Amino acid sequence: MDARSIIAKLRRREVPDAGELAWFAHGLADGSVSDAQAGAFAMAVCMGGLGPEGRAALTLAMRDSGEVLTWNLDGPVIDKHSTGGVGDCVSLVLAPALAECGAYVPMISGRGLGHTGGTLDKLEAIPGVSTQISQDRLAQILAETGAAIVGATTQIAPADKRLYAIRDVTATVESLDLITASILSKKLAASPDALVLDVKMGSGAFMKTLDEARKLAQALTETANAAGCRTSALITDMNQPLAPALGNALEIAEVMKVLTDGQPSPLTEISAELGGVLLSDAGMVGDAQAGRDMIAEVIRDGRAAERFGRMMAAVGGPLGLVEDWARYLPEASVILEVTAQDEGYVTAMDGEALGLAVVALGGGRQVESDVIDPAVGLSGLVRLGDKVSAGTPLAVVHAAREDAAQRAAQTVRAAITIGPAPVPVPELVQERIL
Ligand code: URA
Repeated sequence: MDARSIIAKLRRREVPDAGELAWFAHGLADGSVSDAQAGAFAMAVCMGGLGPEGRAALTLAMRDSGEVLTWNLDGPVIDKHSTGGVGDCVSLVLAPALAECGAYVPMISGRGLGHTGGTLDKLEAIPGVSTQISQDRLAQILAETGAAIVGATTQIAPADKRLYAIRDVTATVESLDLITASILSKKLAASPDALVLDVKMGSGAFMKTLDEARKLAQALTETANAAGCRTSALITDMNQPLAPALGNALEIAEVMKVLTDGQPSPLTEISAELGGVLLSDAGMVGDAQAGRDMIAEVIRDGRAAERFGRMMAAVGGPLGLVEDWARYLPEASVILEVTAQDEGYVTAMDGEALGLAVVALGGGRQVESDVIDPAVGLSGLVRLGDKVSAGTPLAVVHAAREDAAQRAAQTVRAAITIGPAPVPVPELVQERIL
């Protein structure tokens, strides 16, 4: 086999067979396929598509380009993946809640991508927390605390690591086949018994329309189920940030509030919806409603908070985090309130613009080598449908410098539309693919 013949097949709109895709994925992982060949492969897949069978074969090939983890645990291994949004800190609420319900959750997570925040960057806002741990230590933490949120080691789906970097610079990120294989190769490498996908849709998501989100959700669920992992998806609204804060430490603060105050919030609602489906798919409860109630209860009564504290302590976090979380989180030196200039209702929020404002403040990376400032971001964000008058706070900017705060304030004002009459607020769960 050689890379040229596989690329030529794709150029002729033929789909390479599973053996050829496995050969190519191994070549990506061991370096025998060149960057030029990888770029041509990605572009050919983008242009011609692979179809459901080819997509599943590429996913398994990329999963098997590295190690596939195995577990020796006394309960189901389950996981959740989000396609990315703003103020989306669901993983940090859901993972401890699922563990508290008796599941094991080896959640291999990512860093910020574009305008969206990354779970690992958020966790690292907690002093001492390290998300790069060995596979042996991951297995140990999982057995002891039931859940671990960690970065992928170099042994997990190395073909994806290489291809992703090449797609990023060859305008080939936006391919249903490549996105599916990329996401699932990493998730399936942790050998979950069941997986739930939170496919985000709207202004703060990568998929702006329901139709795009539906296509991605269908491709992901079909492929993961074909690979033998029981998988469902919820398409959820991202036309406004999920939590009222964006930025690493600020989102951790929201997570701690949700886990410790027992109050209902969009974050708890989505966590219960996703967790309910997952517990049901894993056979741990009779149906999704029973699962939803179970998740809501362990969040409400503080057991998920206690579990989160143990998870953080296991990866180097402070022992008294849950009791005294505000003391541990970094704070920005410049705090600036952004207020409404007119009276009316919040009718639209440009989530992507808000996310990019946080990146510009230093809360995300513009280039790979950027060092994140965990303290910066936005808090106290209004929600769609809120009534405001001139002077009502729309958000609070947390910045390292006054000029950066002023620029972010301008972006926030432009990103929040105030209209004369309220508009219908989208349902949090738009569609279920079960
Ligand atoms: N996230 C991934 O891991 N891969 C993609 O291709 C897109 C989002």
